[in-house]
Amino acid sequence: MSNAVYPGSFDPVTKGHLDIIRRAAKMFDRLTVSVLNNSDKSPLFSADERVNMLRVICRDIPNVEIDSFSGLTADYAKQTGTDVIIRGLRAVTDFEYELQMAQTNRKILPSLDTVFLTTSLEYAYLSSSIVREVASYGGDISEFVTPEVAEAVYKKLEDCQLVNSKRKY
Ligand code: COA
Repeated sequence: MSNAVYPGSFDPVTKGHLDIIRRAAKMFDRLTVSVLNNSDKSPLFSADERVNMLRVICRDIPNVEIDSFSGLTADYAKQTGTDVIIRGLRAVTDFEYELQMAQTNRKILPSLDTVFLTTSLEYAYLSSSIVREVASYGGDISEFVTPEVAEAVYKKLEDCQLVNSKRKY
């Protein structure tokens, strides 16, 4: 039985992430999408909220489970008995950082390999911070995230009074 972990911040999960999840789920018997709960980023959504959003949008993919973790990805992989990490590569700018992470992870846990999937072209520009920024100006994020996630983003920004102008969509 082959399994893999797709770790990330997912703040919030985008259609670009979902594209990677769907494709990786076809390659492995089981895929765990795991939300990083480290304190060095100040996320818009709590780890529990990010986990819940992922559960909703991945509900139709039977071999995907959602989890969260803190600390090192390599330690988490070891605890869960996983030897493969999935990461998406959007552009050449991602490469250096991703290579460094993959090599560090292998140094910490030599059995751990990273599989890179190239992000589909239509999502190559996308990031969670782009989604947060466009939404914070009342912009349309329906091209970037699923309807459930869009609702959650607008609501969270309103609750946090982070909306710069009235929502237009
Ligand atoms: N579609 C859309 N956006 C994508 C994407 C895709 N396919 N792939 C990456 N992104 C974006 C994310 O939206 C995010 O955008 P943001 O910075 O605007 O919020 C950005 O790329 C970073 O992606 P993410 O996948 O969330 O990675 P990360 O850098 O937050 O976290 C971990 C990566 C969790 C794998 C890494 O930080 C980690 O392993 N941390 C644990 C500590 C550790 O083990 N360190 C040692 C390894 S060096």
